[in-house]
Amino acid sequence: MHSLANDLSSLSRPSRDYLKARHRLFIGGRFVDSAATKPLPVIDPTSGEQISQVPAGEAEDVDRAVKAARAAFDGGAWPKLSATARERIMLRLADLLEKHADEFSQIESVNSGRVLAATRAFDVDLSVDYLRYMAGWATKIHGETIPASVPYVPGAKFFAMTLREPLGVIGAITPWNVPLGQAIWKIAPALATGCTIVLKPAEQTPLTALRFAELVAEAGVPEGVVNVVTGIGEAAGAALVTHPGVDKISFTGSTDVGRRIGELAAKQMKRFTLELGGKSPMVVLEDADLEVTIPGAAIGIFANHGQNCCAGSRLFVQDNVYEEVVSGIAQIASSIRLGPPLASDTQMGPLISNEQKRRVMDYVDSGRAEGATVLVGGVALEGPGAYVQPTVLTDVRPSMRVVQEEIFGPVLAATRFGSVHDAVKMANDTKFGLGASVWTRSIDQAHWFIRNFNAGTVWVNTHTVLDLAVPFGGVKQSGMGHELGEEAIKHHTHLKAAFISLRDP
Ligand code: NAI
Ligand code: MG
Repeated sequence: MHSLANDLSSLSRPSRDYLKARHRLFIGGRFVDSAATKPLPVIDPTSGEQISQVPAGEAEDVDRAVKAARAAFDGGAWPKLSATARERIMLRLADLLEKHADEFSQIESVNSGRVLAATRAFDVDLSVDYLRYMAGWATKIHGETIPASVPYVPGAKFFAMTLREPLGVIGAITPWNVPLGQAIWKIAPALATGCTIVLKPAEQTPLTALRFAELVAEAGVPEGVVNVVTGIGEAAGAALVTHPGVDKISFTGSTDVGRRIGELAAKQMKRFTLELGGKSPMVVLEDADLEVTIPGAAIGIFANHGQNCCAGSRLFVQDNVYEEVVSGIAQIASSIRLGPPLASDTQMGPLISNEQKRRVMDYVDSGRAEGATVLVGGVALEGPGAYVQPTVLTDVRPSMRVVQEEIFGPVLAATRFGSVHDAVKMANDTKFGLGASVWTRSIDQAHWFIRNFNAGTVWVNTHTVLDLAVPFGGVKQSGMGHELGEEAIKHHTHLKAAFISLRDP
């Protein structure tokens, strides 16, 4: 039996060197020491071994970073640059990331436990595309001219217009599930709009954000425009949220932390966008094409090991096809090859940490205790790695924790239904509202579900597809505001109106 730990000797020279390097904070265009003396260990989740370390940044570091971002914004180094100049720099940044794609992908795979193909696609390639997409927006941000009547001033003439101005300093806090991808979702719209940014990456996965900071310097982004402070949420993250020099918080993570951040930001009248948890339903109708549906729904839950905010963690299948769909997904689940992400035959790596493994297994155990049947999986692999087998639970009831709470692991809860009205009622019976999918051949059913799901994104005959140009955001406890597309531009700008009184000569 081969080891479940990564073989780090398979890494390229640059990746190995980067793990060994001494990492510092990126503030004001330079790598600087943290005020903290005790570092934060970086762990390979296949082995539990430390592979690197980064500074455990503190409030003092955040203060320095915010001041650098403030100076770059207020002094105009970035917002006053022409849009075409910002665009050119962003395109350079995209080219540099593309050039170092293998290194970024390898570092991300070792640190986050996801296979190289996944980190390459979602952390690196999509980020390159998003930087280019947002670079294009830099030259397309504008207000409108508006015919103003001002009827209560007889005979008067006014010219009215709006301007879209950059919001200012963005405080960005990201999670560990798609580490570089999430960081670029924050950095790219900030750069395109002329904002400056302080990024606090997740404590589990700080490496690619720091490596990206090197490219920021190389691409010629003016100093202070992008700053990266590593550290834990309760210290560096909390300091960023309450810092008076930050104009907006852009947060992705758990609903509990997001709610607290929203409360704190509101007290200071800071803008905020929150991308939070989910418990997304996948509804399979009896007329669905099962050849597409069964593998599609398996990807819907097991992609990224279920560590995915829009994971399709609740499955609802119509009576007639229930057995076939659930057993088909269970078969796929038991065939997925778990192993180290650097090995070429691995299909699924470990969860992010042993802490996450325990959390997921606690949920599985609670499901068992409340009467659910473990159809397949339901065990963690022995050894120091954070491996959990893909799991399908049946005989679940709406009141169970495994049906109501976000597990953030490869665990599917399957339920049957009779009528589509029952299905949509059960699908919407959750505090979350991030994504939802329906699987059907009927255009009428598809449209009916699109209208009746309570969710930020609805998919038909697919699940979890995202695109750079399509806004992404949640309703209910899944968040506020949107990322991606033009919405991201709007969320990084404010609208100013201007009136000019005119007199004919
Ligand atoms: P978390 O929400 O605590 O962490 C996300 C980010 O927030 C990290 O950068 C963290 O350092 C920061 N953070 C934590 N506490 C903070 C605070 N008081 N002030 C400012 N920033 C703070 O998530 P965690 O603990 O890593 O994961 C726990 C559960 O949260 C997961 O099992 C999953 O259910 C959910 N989660 C959901 C995510 C999503 O994309 N929807 C992403 C990450 C976690
Ligand atoms: Mg936490």
